[in-house]
Amino acid sequence: MVTMNPIYETELGKLYQTDCLKALPNVPSNTVDLAFADPPFNLGKRYSSGIDDSLDESRYIEWCESWLSEMVRVLKPGGALMHWNLPKWNLALGGFLSRNLTFRNWITVDIKYSLPISGRLYPSHYSLLYFVKGPKPAIFHPDRLPISCCRHCGGEIKDYGGYKSKMNPLGVNLSDVWTDIPPVRHQKYKRRDANALPLKLMDRIISMCTDEESIVLDPFGGSGTTYVAAELLGRKWIGMELDCSTAVSRLDNLDEDREHLAKIHLNKNKLFTEADLIRRKKNNKPLSKNYTLFDSHDDNCPARDRD
Ligand SMILES: C[S@@+](CC[C@H](N)C(=O)[O-])C[C@H]1O[C@@H](n2cnc3c(N)ncnc32)[C@H](O)[C@@H]1O
Repeated sequence: MVTMNPIYETELGKLYQTDCLKALPNVPSNTVDLAFADPPFNLGKRYSSGIDDSLDESRYIEWCESWLSEMVRVLKPGGALMHWNLPKWNLALGGFLSRNLTFRNWITVDIKYSLPISGRLYPSHYSLLYFVKGPKPAIFHPDRLPISCCRHCGGEIKDYGGYKSKMNPLGVNLSDVWTDIPPVRHQKYKRRDANALPLKLMDRIISMCTDEESIVLDPFGGSGTTYVAAELLGRKWIGMELDCSTAVSRLDNLDEDREHLAKIHLNKNKLFTEADLIRRKKNNKPLSKNYTLFDSHDDNCPARDRD
């Protein structure tokens, strides 16, 4: 695929320690199912790779457009491009992408990322742009989410009234506002200062836009969250990063991430989480008989197409 030598390789993936602008031209056109990018945000941060993270605004946009153009080129027809950035940058870059791809969603991911700024609204979401090459996605299976319940008693936060019997047993439809992605805070899962994305986010994106034989590309590897998620989900992957040390040590020992992902999977594609069911039992709140519960792993689950 890419003619350079990878610094790290598994049966599924290859990681190149280089400037992505040098490596991307080696990826053949129309071969990638999901191209994801989480670039530096031009906030003047210090990276171990020593990059300049305080460019002039127009220089930053120009730089982003150069690797985004490559990502567009390598996408298969029907392939998905996801771009994670601050709303300010995605406003401009979304315009650029919509001239080349088909817009699907601006996904708002509710995570606070800086302190309140006087005279401005408190910045509390990242923007995840979702585009596809051509008119529609080749692959689209969004997660279903459990009903939101009270953290104390396990009772439903929203009243589903007479609709309980019509709820999909695999959970609620995923919307374009994601409020259930926790920031990476837990020391055990925190790989580097402030840049590692949550594994849950990458699991959701990769599960939505790829199947087992698919190829995932991420030109800004950082701590390797995308590659770890792809590896654990059995997807092929291509990675690029100027300083691969953290990603390599993480890929070398996947046990913690495997355990973390298994916990994430316990609570997706089901109508109620185990924890909420236990809370209800403790608080004597039996579940309405109008709900149908199914385990997402159950082959007999009849509910995949019901909304
Ligand atoms: C925001 S971080 C990515 C974090 C990653 N998503 C994770 O979960 O750990 C951006 C990364 O891009 C890398 N980077 C910056 N410029 C690059 C370039 N031209 N080519 C490859 N990597 C680059 C930086 O070293 C940094 O690790």
